[in-house]
Amino acid sequence: MEAIAKNPALQNANTDFLPLEGTDYVEFYVGNAKQAAHFYKTAFGFQSLAYAGPETGVKDRASYAVRQHKLTFVFTTPLRPDNPIADHIYQHGDGVKVLALRVPDATDAWQQTTSRGGKSYLEPQRLQDEHGEVVMSGIHTYGDTVHLFIERKNYTGAFLPGYQPWNSHYNPIETGLLYVDHCVGNVGWNQMNPWVKFYEDVMGFRNILSFDDQDISTEYSALMSKVMSNGNGFVKFPINEPAEGKKKSQVEEYLDFYNGEGCQHVALATNNIVATVTALQDRGVEFLKVPGSYYDDLLDRVGHIDEDLTPLKELGILVDRDDEGYLLQIFTKPVEDRPTLFFEIIQRKGAKSFGKGNFKALFEAIEREQAQRGNL
Ligand code: FE2
Repeated sequence: MEAIAKNPALQNANTDFLPLEGTDYVEFYVGNAKQAAHFYKTAFGFQSLAYAGPETGVKDRASYAVRQHKLTFVFTTPLRPDNPIADHIYQHGDGVKVLALRVPDATDAWQQTTSRGGKSYLEPQRLQDEHGEVVMSGIHTYGDTVHLFIERKNYTGAFLPGYQPWNSHYNPIETGLLYVDHCVGNVGWNQMNPWVKFYEDVMGFRNILSFDDQDISTEYSALMSKVMSNGNGFVKFPINEPAEGKKKSQVEEYLDFYNGEGCQHVALATNNIVATVTALQDRGVEFLKVPGSYYDDLLDRVGHIDEDLTPLKELGILVDRDDEGYLLQIFTKPVEDRPTLFFEIIQRKGAKSFGKGNFKALFEAIEREQAQRGNL
């Protein structure tokens, strides 16, 4: 017992009832998966990975999996209207349906979470093909979003059973995106704390950071946020709710147009944000811009940084520092016509936080866009 008490790793393994090995994939329900996959290859530099559809024995949908380093995105579209995927798109537009988490034991993950109050989405299922076996299970989270638990230690295929490798003649070079840093959920009024409790009770996460409406408010609007992390820190889910301001919160605009709670942004990590954002911008990805004055006193705020200020200013990359280091980040505009899902590009240089020092400048930039849409 003494050895366990003194060894934090063993202690963690002993107490973490839902060990997670990271994000396995993010699945988007979209109106046209073939074209969405092309966009993410062209604009973001993903590579073709695998396909499932009528040709592979899946009759009601088509799914395209693309990959860049450890990032796997899946785009799924329904083939007929009488289909829950079609309902999802009618309600929400294109958006994130599945945040899939890799686990050592998907059956145990389902039992642990459902016994703690998680609502089952998928009972443990064994999927097999000539490359081995994947066990999948899942629970519901906020809105119509779900978590799938993926156990793939006995699988060597391209993606999942039911998919065939997707070999394409079109393979645009990558942009340096590496893995999912965090995924943010927008929830309704007074719903942040219930969802914080869900992640604590059902999934064993803990609240590592909190921001109230004093931290995150501009002249016009406000939101509140709590960051939930699993035991090893590989999976982080900040949860936002709107707060009262003079005008409509950006979270409220999202809830209106997504027609409910859902994933607001997925943050993608890079080791060279200047190169990555330059490449993304050249390929047509649109970013939120802060005023040039943001950079006037930047170094006074954050101290020395390794990067030249000029490209950061040209690209609109934001910088923030915490006790452990600094981070560089930038946010895309929404990637669909509804003002809903967007992406963050983030490079961490020691900092484990989320850019609190940038919130005000950033949210003023979001509000300028919101006002242009007539929704402020
Ligand atoms: Fe973020």
